[in-house]
Amino acid sequence: MILKRQSKGGTKQQCSSRNSNSSSTSPLQTICVFQTVIVSLVLAVFLLPAEISSLENGLARTPPMGWLSWERFRCNTDCEGDPENCISENLFRTMADLVVSEGYAALGYEYINVDDCWLEKSRGPRGELVADRRRFPSGMKALADYVHAKGLKFGIYEDYGNYTCAGYPGILGFSQNDAAQFASWDVDYVKLDGCYSLPIDMDHGYPEFGRHLNATGRAMVYSCSWPVYQIYAGMNPNYSSIIQHCNLWRNYDDIQDSWASLESIIDYYGNNQDAIIPNAGPGHWNDPDMLIIGNFGLSYEQSKTQMALWAIMAAPLMMSVDLRTIRPEFKAILQNKKIIAVDQDPLGIQGRRIYKHKGIEIWSRPITPIYQTFYSYAIAFVNRRTDGTPSDVAVTLRELGLISPTGYRVEDLYEEVDYGILSPQTKIKVKVNPSGVVILRADVQPERFSKRPYNPIFYRYPN
Ligand SMILES: *[C@@H]1O[C@H](CO)[C@@H](O)[C@H](O)[C@H]1NC(C)=O
Ligand SMILES: *[C@@H]1O[C@H](CO)[C@@H](O)[C@H](O)[C@H]1NC(C)=O
Ligand SMILES: *[C@@H]1O[C@H](CO)[C@@H](O)[C@H](O)[C@H]1NC(C)=O
Repeated sequence: MILKRQSKGGTKQQCSSRNSNSSSTSPLQTICVFQTVIVSLVLAVFLLPAEISSLENGLARTPPMGWLSWERFRCNTDCEGDPENCISENLFRTMADLVVSEGYAALGYEYINVDDCWLEKSRGPRGELVADRRRFPSGMKALADYVHAKGLKFGIYEDYGNYTCAGYPGILGFSQNDAAQFASWDVDYVKLDGCYSLPIDMDHGYPEFGRHLNATGRAMVYSCSWPVYQIYAGMNPNYSSIIQHCNLWRNYDDIQDSWASLESIIDYYGNNQDAIIPNAGPGHWNDPDMLIIGNFGLSYEQSKTQMALWAIMAAPLMMSVDLRTIRPEFKAILQNKKIIAVDQDPLGIQGRRIYKHKGIEIWSRPITPIYQTFYSYAIAFVNRRTDGTPSDVAVTLRELGLISPTGYRVEDLYEEVDYGILSPQTKIKVKVNPSGVVILRADVQPERFSKRPYNPIFYRYPN
């Protein structure tokens, strides 16, 4: 299922013979590199979300943010041999503590989500779900209370089929009772996986469980795995139904702790963007899976790339990392306020890949503020090349689709670089590290090169 990587051809061959002897990327070469951008920016401007009817439970108006156990802690049930890292109430309490004390909560990370392996292997005498008695001795209601007392929200995991992926009881045949049980525990978020079920049944099964959640009267974010299992089965997911019933959904493979896994996800969302992007919006999001920043598999540059592209994709920001041991530079990426603000932009328009050539990609997302008919944008330049030197990319704002005659205030979201107010004709040049990213924010200006001091209130579009 992993998609082909980018061409690894040398920069030298990208352009005309004039600079074929150059061993570095000259501005001239990059002009050549960008000659096709104008074609693709038409898509960037016009392919915005259609008016769609979608789940309206008042939740997930921006992509949910929080912490989820799966990618980092998996199904470690060995609390005797590995008490600090096993799936247990202690682990979730500790992470809830750290989400608050280390400043993540103040930046918007609010859900503490349990994934698979929290259950006893069989249901209780009345068919009820029972949390593992050794690892969750206080029970799930007590854990939810603990999380709520921290000012956070509590999420839980189940599976639409007969079993969860790790072999614990699934909801099939019990869905109404299970929804009621989650509500009685004060759950705020339910991730419903799709192992041990028939993908063809999901078109009625996922909506049915959604109706049971709704009928409890407790608003719970509903995270579905419906499309990804159908895609695996060769089916074409009915997204118009999915967005009516789910707040978020997985489209593609589980993320693993590697750059190869991250690249395959980036490619999937780029290559399938026309089918995927229109489905995203406030209350309903595509989910490219967890943030793996701060674990073992990604370099610093690659971690910055994940954070930037997840923000461009309006992705849920669910960290799966050991917050006890995360290094400061990775924590700083997860806590980058400017990039979080892009992810959480109130328009909720998912961004897209607008350029891809010889290992250089440009991704663009329309964001607020809007002035007249012009959006502001977040722009990510991604270097998928492995020839270990930074690549220069030079492009005018106009080529990126930024055509407001009033200009844009442009700043770098990782580095303290403020480009000032630039006209569409201005060429900007960035240096992108191998497997790294440069992410810019370009805020449309209210008046042509205004002499007034920068003040966002002047140009916030009334809507
Ligand atoms: C689930 O279990 C029931 C009862 O054993 C069985 O009839 C059904 O085929 C199973 N469904 C799937 C999708 O495995
Ligand atoms: C249930 O669905 C209705 C109709 O979409 C919605 O207005 C309401 O907020 C939902 N309630 C809950 C608890 O999700
Ligand atoms: C997809 O779901 C919608 C809404 O539930 C339904 O009206 C439509 O018929 C479905 N389309 C297909 C191809 O099944």
